[in-house]
Amino acid sequence: MSTVLSAVAWPYANGPRHIGHVAGFGVPSDVFSRYMRMAGHDVLMVSGTDEHGTPILVEAGKQGVSAQQLADRNNRVIVEDLVALGLSYDLFTRTTTRNHYQVVQDMFRAVRDNGYLVEQLTQGAISPSTGRTLPDRYIEGTCPICGTPGARGDQCDACGNQLDPTDLIDPVSKIDGETPEFIETSHWFLDLPALAAELGRWLDTREATGLWRPNVIRFSKNILEDIKPRAMTRDIDWGIPVPGWEDQPNKRLYVWFDAVIGYLSASIEWARRSGDPDAWRRWWNDPEALSYYFMGKDNIVFHSQIWPAEMLAQNGKGDKGGVPGQFGELNLPTEVVSSEFLTMEGKKFSSSKGVVIYVRDVLDRYQPDALRYFISAAGPENQDADFTWSEFVSRTNNELVAGWGNLVNRTAAMIAKNVGEIPAAGELEDIDRALLDQIRAGFDTVGGLIEQHRQRAAIAEVMRLVGEANRYVSETEPFKLKAPEQRERLLTVLHVLAQAVTDLNTMIAPFLPFSANAVEKALGGDRVIAPLPQLVEVEDLDGGHPYPIITGDYTDVPAWEHRPVTVGAPVAKPTPIFTKLDSTVVEQELDRLRAEAEG
Ligand code: MF3
Ligand code: ZN
Repeated sequence: MSTVLSAVAWPYANGPRHIGHVAGFGVPSDVFSRYMRMAGHDVLMVSGTDEHGTPILVEAGKQGVSAQQLADRNNRVIVEDLVALGLSYDLFTRTTTRNHYQVVQDMFRAVRDNGYLVEQLTQGAISPSTGRTLPDRYIEGTCPICGTPGARGDQCDACGNQLDPTDLIDPVSKIDGETPEFIETSHWFLDLPALAAELGRWLDTREATGLWRPNVIRFSKNILEDIKPRAMTRDIDWGIPVPGWEDQPNKRLYVWFDAVIGYLSASIEWARRSGDPDAWRRWWNDPEALSYYFMGKDNIVFHSQIWPAEMLAQNGKGDKGGVPGQFGELNLPTEVVSSEFLTMEGKKFSSSKGVVIYVRDVLDRYQPDALRYFISAAGPENQDADFTWSEFVSRTNNELVAGWGNLVNRTAAMIAKNVGEIPAAGELEDIDRALLDQIRAGFDTVGGLIEQHRQRAAIAEVMRLVGEANRYVSETEPFKLKAPEQRERLLTVLHVLAQAVTDLNTMIAPFLPFSANAVEKALGGDRVIAPLPQLVEVEDLDGGHPYPIITGDYTDVPAWEHRPVTVGAPVAKPTPIFTKLDSTVVEQELDRLRAEAEG
């Protein structure tokens, strides 16, 4: 049994989330966490909304509300969506809690006290007419390296080079087209070069495990090559105040400095809410504890470099030495599990261009497990993947409804009609044993694949076994076993089927929690086998504003193993678990998208 931290990327609260987001960080982290709990591990799954930074400020400006109001609104929408999708967070919180502010400022002080934050003068852009600072990414100009117009102040998308706004040729503000003015401004820089050797050693130990996806380890090692100090403060008036600079409200901590600390602050908040304020240390200070970070690929640098560097600096483990701060020796990530991108009908998601399918819209119209199934079976696990409505409809109908749903349905229907309860088995024949043995072996195969973050292969293996069970029905033809002398054989086949469905349902539970509970019930079970998360309204622990959290009790789950059916458990005529989708759904949804893109 291990202690396992599931650290899930924090969605930005600048708008509702689309299905690309939950395909990247949401469903994979939930499948993994649910499986690990069933396998007997002590899992802590945390996340929250990421509420600071320029995009929030700019969106709030557009909508004519304050940044806090915008964050409040979107935090609630996102919380509701993630609950509706069944994501089993122990705590989903937000970055505007007083607890988070405190933990972030304590981290900042510890890192600074160990010498890894250095104050430096730099050139900052301001708008000459308003005097307000212009964030790097809101300045555009011609790339000095490749000559492409429209490069941003932080990066040129054409050649991929990192830039500074002062590098751009003919820089203009994206907000109002003005030519920015540059002034001297002071910032705190994280001394990444002083942490690079230690980061490299840590990455070597990670590479040696052979567990990380090759592109993630390669990218992480590459970016160590020309590592530079990076500013951890910004000229902006929305964000966490900089310790020591409280008299300068227009300087705040950089959003990424604070967001990644959320994994730690959320664990601490969870512990405080559980009544054992030190309980978080088991996941963070015990060197045996495991930690898995789930995100989309654009987040890799922050999880394989910035966050580990912040922890090493707090731990006093770089070229400048130091002593651990109040958080003790923090564990660096066991694994950075990064997914690729999901496109939609062949296009890159873009809310501004109307190329978007919101989680909310899918869940308003379809079953959450249908979306979870699509993401698990066809998501962007190891390469970019495309969501199309026609594939969503065909996978739902052919695999969920006609495959798994049909097996459950006919099993329960035949038992209800012929017996009314789970029958005992008579003598097993070879064909019976062959099916049951194959399915039992699935626990190791499927579990092993989930542990390696190969969820597409894992769900494919479960569905292959579902196919075997359906083939067993065709071969044993229980519906033809009507004569009195065939009664015992009938009961045996129905028993075997009930057992097959029960074991398959255990394996499917991490992927399809809602239907797993329904299947359990359909076969006479009386327990929740896949506990669902809850939205709870809470007070801020330290006197801030109340907010909704996601939490739940996920401890009472069946073990990841064969579980004998309960002979005699009552089985009634079932209602279908999955809803078959009409083929007109595809046209309807495509029309909707077209209207959205034009509108
Ligand atoms: N908000 C970021 C995004 O959506 C992810 C932040 S992950 C965190 O890309 F760990 F930094 F919070
Ligand atoms: Zn360029």
